[in-house]
Amino acid sequence: MTRIVPFLALAFLGCAGQQAFAQTAPADIVKARQDAMESLWRDSYKAVAATVRTDKPDLTLVATNSAKATATLQKLATLFPPGTGRDVVPGTRAKPEIWSDRKEFEGNLATLINASKALTDDATAGSVEKVKADWTNLAKACGGCHGGPVKSGGKFRFEKE
Ligand code: HEC
Repeated sequence: MTRIVPFLALAFLGCAGQQAFAQTAPADIVKARQDAMESLWRDSYKAVAATVRTDKPDLTLVATNSAKATATLQKLATLFPPGTGRDVVPGTRAKPEIWSDRKEFEGNLATLINASKALTDDATAGSVEKVKADWTNLAKACGGCHGGPVKSGGKFRFEKE
């Protein structure tokens, strides 16, 4: 027993980070992250893109939608646990580099989250000029992992077949 207890403790510590997914099947995690990625554009940034293009962007809309997107992005950060690649879930477009180059992947996500927060802050402060610059940065940040178009691939996403 004295031998087994420390071993169990280690095993438990090792699992703590993945605990939230203990009951969740890999296919469900993939679906959750694909839905979240799609909702970014559909529910938040599409309307932002349209208004930012105009001479008088609706800054209240920009602030509200970018804050909603930031919350989605923070959730997305938890939806790429190991064991959810193509070897386990064939329908995913997540590349193995997500796990082998984790620092870069997380860095790209952090860059995007920062761009989204800057958009909220500058829209709240009422600066149209800054909001336009933030929007350009944000669009670039998506490309860090994959190109803009839905079908495109990139460093961290397989091209759509
Ligand atoms: C940190 C890397 C990363 C960033 C940054 C990123 N994505 Fe993604 N995105 C992915 C990965 C990986 C997938 C594939 C997920 C899967 O199939 O499991 C994906 C998938 C998608 C999809 C398609 C969903 C599907 O079924 O494949 C859309 C649409 C999308 N992203 C939009 C965006 C938009 C818009 C942005 C910027 C606001 C963005 N993404 C930024 C990594 C990223």
